[in-house]
Amino acid sequence: MQTFEHLSAPPRMLMGPGPISAYPRVLRALSNQLIGQYDPAMTNYMNQTMELYRQVFKTKNDATVLVDGTSRAGIEAVLVSLIEPGDTVLVPIFGRFGHLLSEIAQRAGAQVISFEVEWGTVVSDSAVEQAIIKHKPKLLALVQGDTSTTMLQPLQGIGEICKKHGVLFYSDATASIVGNPFETDLWQLDAVSVGLQKCLGGPSGSAPITLSPNAVELIRKRKHVEAGIRTQSHQSGSASRISSNYFDLGMILDYWGEERLNHHTEATSMLYAARECAQLNLEEGLDEVIKRHQLAGGAMAAGLRAMGLNLFGDQAHKMNNVVGVVIPSEVNGDAIRMAMLNQFNIEIGTSFGPLHGKIWRIGTMGYNARLDTVLLTLVALEALLVQAGAVVHKGAAYQVASAFYLEGS
Ligand SMILES: Cc1ncc(COP(=O)(O)O)c(C=O)c1O
Repeated sequence: MQTFEHLSAPPRMLMGPGPISAYPRVLRALSNQLIGQYDPAMTNYMNQTMELYRQVFKTKNDATVLVDGTSRAGIEAVLVSLIEPGDTVLVPIFGRFGHLLSEIAQRAGAQVISFEVEWGTVVSDSAVEQAIIKHKPKLLALVQGDTSTTMLQPLQGIGEICKKHGVLFYSDATASIVGNPFETDLWQLDAVSVGLQKCLGGPSGSAPITLSPNAVELIRKRKHVEAGIRTQSHQSGSASRISSNYFDLGMILDYWGEERLNHHTEATSMLYAARECAQLNLEEGLDEVIKRHQLAGGAMAAGLRAMGLNLFGDQAHKMNNVVGVVIPSEVNGDAIRMAMLNQFNIEIGTSFGPLHGKIWRIGTMGYNARLDTVLLTLVALEALLVQAGAVVHKGAAYQVASAFYLEGS
């Protein structure tokens, strides 16, 4: 037999692009005892969770539920449920997660049309409209905040373009929701998926999603009920069956809906966490939460600049909650990151693809969107950069970041 020490995670402060340190209230919610999936207390929590996420997503969509799994489970559920093999799907790409949407859409059998803009920039409305006119897709899939580049894609004008051309509009807002403005109904989105582990302030493992009545109608046409629980009253839909059982949103909606038709066993602890995340953000007020992310992210960016470091990407389109900072050429980026972790218990992020080794990504999200976390991170980074021989303006980051935060508060 081999066993190990009792679990005792080191007291890290997670200041990367996500996951982040969870709100203590969410950790307490997670420690609640389990209850059965048809216990009225549980079905009541499920209904409350739907109502809470309607407010988070800013939607009246009845079909607002959790998909059990990390954010990509939500993405996969939306795409595999909306896409029938052979459908054309348009995926503009401005970072790693556009590539992810494209891959998942391809795996769902779509003819994917994608175009990529330089990492550090965003896609224009006119480029999207031109591509829609040329390729006549059934669905547009577009990331809102791409953590790989830190950019925030404007979505305000795109829903109208989609409606004009009869295209369904889906966005992955995993990294941006509640840290930046998001309006499901106002921006005319048909499907949105997110995760808890960024600005919502929980652990990864639950993917809240919302679907417009149009999207639900399409999914209903693909209705399927498992043989072992099907009754004579259940009719199969006229369109092709959704190829995934686990991610069949028709079945998931029937489980969350009045019929409570059995599908998976809802991940009770993650439901507690998702419910608490929504609840505490709504209690604080979504506008207040966004403002706090703006302040903390702005203070971090101002502090890094004051230190003499360069920020990555088009700053006019940066997410509030994560900043890319160019690694000074005279230091080893990974060594500094490891020293931040080992000496200060602070985690900052590395980066992917063309940006690997070129930028660090520093997040200020959820529970960690605060002045103290910003100052600790800046002071620690400055100390390590000085020790490594980089040329930085000593003491300036602390002064500038605290002044920025306090002026805006
Ligand atoms: C925009 C975006 N989409 C999707 C994901 C994937 O999330 P997960 O790792 O929870 O599946 C991430 C994670 O960083 C993300 O930032």
